[in-house]
Amino acid sequence: EKTKSWKSLINIAVSGAAGMISNHLLFKLASGEVFGSDQPIALKLLGSERSFQALEGVAMELEDSLYPLLREVSIGIDPYEVFQDVEWALLIGAKPRGPGMERADLLDINGQIFAEQGKALNAVASRNAKVLVVGNPCNTNALICMKNAPNIPAKNFHALTRLDENRAKCQLALKAGVFYDKVSNVTIWGNHSTTQVPDFLNAKIDGRPAKEVINDIKWLEEEFTNIIQNRGGVLIKKWGRSSAASTAVSMVDAIKSLITPTPEGDWFSSGVYTNGNPYGIAEDIVFSMPCRSQVCDFCVLLDLLLRFSFSYLLWRNYFSPYFREMVTMS
Ligand code: LMR
Repeated sequence: EKTKSWKSLINIAVSGAAGMISNHLLFKLASGEVFGSDQPIALKLLGSERSFQALEGVAMELEDSLYPLLREVSIGIDPYEVFQDVEWALLIGAKPRGPGMERADLLDINGQIFAEQGKALNAVASRNAKVLVVGNPCNTNALICMKNAPNIPAKNFHALTRLDENRAKCQLALKAGVFYDKVSNVTIWGNHSTTQVPDFLNAKIDGRPAKEVINDIKWLEEEFTNIIQNRGGVLIKKWGRSSAASTAVSMVDAIKSLITPTPEGDWFSSGVYTNGNPYGIAEDIVFSMPCRSQVCDFCVLLDLLLRFSFSYLLWRNYFSPYFREMVTMS
């Protein structure tokens, strides 16, 4: 049965939709786990000529699952068609790295894909579309995509480093012998690559500095950093292919962090455009740093004032998303 909802449909594009990461992600999106249990969505799946049949199979499985919030599923291989009016573009599709490769080895081929997709987003997507780039090397791909989409605000582009943050939280929790939800304030600095810096100096465990709780600086400096930098590569060696389920889970975490105000005192990591950053990081690149999502004070007030009037529907559906400050660098 259709879930009743007064919310307007959100159009979500997913590229690489016939791939492994998408296969985990799409069903989470359709179930309401990501955008909420009263938020109807349309999924627009982008694939390639080679993957078209598999894409049809994915769409069939989504349809057969009878998700009440999934109102439309469409498939295509032309980004100019698939990205029409999308509010979210989750760009997973890219050639993945195999054993022995670095993510940077993928730059040539994947750079072209992201330039084309940036142009398509620029031409047909919502003016306020949010773009989460996952295909590697995701920082550079996000920058290429952004540069090709000047009509969309630069702050709407993100490179996924939430997977690294989750990996770091898990390792800190294991070492400290606590559950992972006690670990907060974990930053991934830099690229989603072996040069990234997982920041244990500012991380907290149960509200205390992680380095006091763990009390093993040698492990933190030498082992922890190395484990996080190389986790993706080790996984490829063991499994023969790159991470999929944990990547999809971290995408869900990343999206939720972008659409909900960040709890006081905490932050999340995301690769964002560096212009105007408060850390002295070189400008004009995409670099992972601590971010917060917040709703502007004016919006909170208006939200309260309009809550019991008819205009509330208009405000919530059409206007408030434009006033929401998605990400500020803290
Ligand atoms: C990961 O970190 O698991 C992914 O970026 C895949 C890879 O190439 O390591």
